[in-house]
Amino acid sequence: MKILAIETSCDETAIALLSAKQGSLKLEKNQIYSQIDIHKQYGGVVPEVAARKHLETIMPLLDSTIKPKDFKKIDYIAVTQGPGLITSLLLGTTVAKTLAFANNLPLVPVNHIEGHIYSNWLGHDKLVKDDKKYFPVLVLIVSGGHTELILMTGHGQYKLLGKTLDDAVGEAFDKVAKLMELGYPGGPIVSDLAQGGDHTAYKLPRPMINNKDYDFSLAGLKTAVLYALEKEGDVDTKEIKNMCDSFQTAVIDVLIHKTMRAAGEFGVKSIMIAGGVSANNALRQALQTKADQYKLPLFYPDLKFTGDNAAMIAAAAYYQVANSGQVFKKQDLMSMQPKANWQLTEK
Ligand code: KG4
Ligand code: ZN
Repeated sequence: MKILAIETSCDETAIALLSAKQGSLKLEKNQIYSQIDIHKQYGGVVPEVAARKHLETIMPLLDSTIKPKDFKKIDYIAVTQGPGLITSLLLGTTVAKTLAFANNLPLVPVNHIEGHIYSNWLGHDKLVKDDKKYFPVLVLIVSGGHTELILMTGHGQYKLLGKTLDDAVGEAFDKVAKLMELGYPGGPIVSDLAQGGDHTAYKLPRPMINNKDYDFSLAGLKTAVLYALEKEGDVDTKEIKNMCDSFQTAVIDVLIHKTMRAAGEFGVKSIMIAGGVSANNALRQALQTKADQYKLPLFYPDLKFTGDNAAMIAAAAYYQVANSGQVFKKQDLMSMQPKANWQLTEK
């Protein structure tokens, strides 16, 4: 099965070509155009600017991925239907619907968060060859827009255990970086600076760490960073590094505590992390240590698949089709619309 996938939910225009069959995923093309340099100057993603850039980029990117004559080798078009910025999603879904219509191909609508989860199948042969023994999986989603603990009992089967009540983890990293005027996106910058810091330098709260539920709240932690910085006055590089490490350690403590408690309560057979923040090395290491302690396999995506990409959308589409999930046929294409707030567990 050959799948052409499109992802435009935020500020990356991405198109991928995946050849998939039982036991094997072969990524033939993985094209990503990142708009980060454009949004940097505004300190965050500007939706209208993102949509306009997708419009300019998507057709040249498509042309560099596949020649018109090769569409006859494609079996499915896949596209991110949501969640994401509605104006960005509209671009990708319109192009996908048009390609599906013109080439008489079925269209697979993919949830962006589900895509992040399936980024774990790309690059982990043991999952592709025999994933049954790893279910139920506890998935920790940590991205710029989402922080969720999800119990995945099988392909396409999800139960939401908890989510953030305010800021997502990536968003918290970005906001804390902004407080210290470190640049955008803040996550990678804060995690780099944290490497040279002392995580005990600032006593920061671990919000909701002992609550019985699996929800998170990070807004208070960000405010605690603000107060600590105000108290400090002018901060030098050493204090900035200490703050980055103190903040990162506080976030990781909460994430790991709740993840391991859920892993125990639901008797999972493995743990996965996914989303932009799964690139964070300190988080990977801390989770690996805990998972080893409990003898649970831990999966995290290859670094080239942690951020937004279309390869993960193609992988999710493959498993959706293989497990008789939703597919739009030619006569239904017009009813397929982007869903900006689509919760994975709503399906
Ligand atoms: O998944 P993603 O690319 O976009 C969404 O779907 O939201 O995640 C982007 C987020 C940004 O907030 C970015 O700062 C964060 O992931 N991020 C990191 C790291 N790399 C990216 N946060 C912490 N540590 C990192 N190494
Ligand atoms: Zn994402």
